[in-house]
Amino acid sequence: MIRVLFVCLGNICRSPLAEAIFTQKVKTANMQTRFKTDSAGTSDFHIGELPDDRTIKCATKYSLPLKHRARQVNRTDFRDFDYIIAMDENNLRTLNNLKVRYGFADKEIHLMRDFIAETMGMPVPDPYYGGEEGFEEIYHILDEALESFLTQVKSTHQIYV
Ligand code: 4NP
Repeated sequence: MIRVLFVCLGNICRSPLAEAIFTQKVKTANMQTRFKTDSAGTSDFHIGELPDDRTIKCATKYSLPLKHRARQVNRTDFRDFDYIIAMDENNLRTLNNLKVRYGFADKEIHLMRDFIAETMGMPVPDPYYGGEEGFEEIYHILDEALESFLTQVKSTHQIYV
């Protein structure tokens, strides 16, 4: 089982959408039994909440089931997930500080857009304070990055379905 955790700040916009997109890709490829996915936030701002209305609207548009309640990243996540994928440098910095504090200094944390060579180092922009078009933008960014991530993970773990 390959365990993948998507992380943003609030866990109500980017990371639940990433989780939903990736879950759909895995399902389409008939690889549900090979992956476990989840998402979390670095902050405690929205713990227990459903995704943002605009996230739900975007997910509905692309027929993506969303059934997540926001939660904060915790110590066991560093132990339990093979891939921890941050949306931007701010999330990455927080996760890199937390992993040291929790005794997982060697754990590699990934940046979402690093799975495509041309967008390395770039953020999945925080759409929270913008309009609905920001959610459309992050949907396409995530869809492209996750397609590349899935290809790389299949190759790394020699999954041929
Ligand atoms: P997310 O977006 O990190 O993609 O879930 C945000 C959600 C909430 C806040 C910021 C970003 N906030 O400041 O409450």
